[in-house]
Amino acid sequence: MKPKEILVFGASGQIGRNLIRKLTKNNYKVVAVTRNIHQKGYILKTQANPGYLEIVELPYFDIEKINNLLDECSICINLIGILFEKKKNYFKNIHTDFPDLLSKLSAEKNIEKLIHLSSLGIEKSIDSKYAITKLNGENKVKNNFERAIVLKPSIVYSVDDSFTTNFMTLLNRLPIMPLYYEGKTKFAPIHVTDLAKIIFDIVEGKVDEQTIECIGPEILSFKEIILKLLKTIHKKRLLIPLPLALAKITAKIFEIMPNPLITVDQINLLKQDNIPSGKYKTNFDLGLMANRIFDEEIDKYSFNWRDGGQYSRDKFQRKNQ
Ligand SMILES: NC(=O)c1ccc[n+]([C@@H]2O[C@H](COP(=O)([O-])OP(=O)(O)OC[C@H]3O[C@@H](n4cnc5c(N)ncnc54)[C@H](OP(=O)(O)O)[C@@H]3O)[C@@H](O)[C@H]2O)c1
Repeated sequence: MKPKEILVFGASGQIGRNLIRKLTKNNYKVVAVTRNIHQKGYILKTQANPGYLEIVELPYFDIEKINNLLDECSICINLIGILFEKKKNYFKNIHTDFPDLLSKLSAEKNIEKLIHLSSLGIEKSIDSKYAITKLNGENKVKNNFERAIVLKPSIVYSVDDSFTTNFMTLLNRLPIMPLYYEGKTKFAPIHVTDLAKIIFDIVEGKVDEQTIECIGPEILSFKEIILKLLKTIHKKRLLIPLPLALAKITAKIFEIMPNPLITVDQINLLKQDNIPSGKYKTNFDLGLMANRIFDEEIDKYSFNWRDGGQYSRDKFQRKNQ
């Protein structure tokens, strides 16, 4: 059978790479779009067997080229997203204008399905540009194309993320860890493999819900997540609630860096819980399970941040005693 062609924007990211592996192993042909083939080609081309992956360079949103790519695909998946603005990368053009364009073109081309990644918990974040632009983007997608499916994940984690890995680096280096909003913000972390499986099931046509909130099996507060990360890297740190004004001043300083650890916009976003809203069905409601447990999964890669590295693992030590 000729493999179906799936066009993926933002394919080189955490979710994209996992999804390419899942799709191509299951006989789909993926066309992965990246802004810079020289920077991202090496990481993309190792995700699939020869013949199953084509890498296309698209440095900017060129309508004619996007149209040509859509002509060749049955399903399009948009994974493009940013956590902070820099140079010409503004939240509005990435999170609202591009999904608007892509969904209009997808409707014109009458493609089988458009899967768009938005975010959970953005409805109430009225002072976060990330949240506002993401919400506008998902609304545009739904209005423009009735066969679009919007996925709203909570925090997605894995060894490839920039969440648990960054925090483990910070916890390793800093003697104290600031807690924003006393660490009370709640999340429903979902492992990237579980999310990739959900997207795969949608590609396969197992569900047809227009908006799905994608969550893992547990609700954890920010403080609980930090405590779990500390436990897995065998470290003890002082956790200090940071007054909001001070948190915003430090974030302003971080914003000068090319890849800021935290921004004022992210602090505003953290004010709201990142858990199911009750407005839409979750993956569990639709029978799409995501059962990977946070503790168990981070334990599989946290040895990189432990003193002694991989061979500090308890299992290894027991075996060799
Ligand atoms: N990870 C999470 O915890 C999480 C949670 C909720 C929602 N989401 C959403 O899920 C989607 C995928 O997340 P992810 O974690 O896989 O993201 P990621 O690792 O940051 O990757 C996003 C991709 O977007 C592309 N990109 C970034 N800026 C771009 C620009 N200006 N123009 C074109 N492409 C650009 C990059 O591809 P190239 O550099 O190859 O062009 C990058 O590989 C995003 O929409 C994100 O907002 C993620």
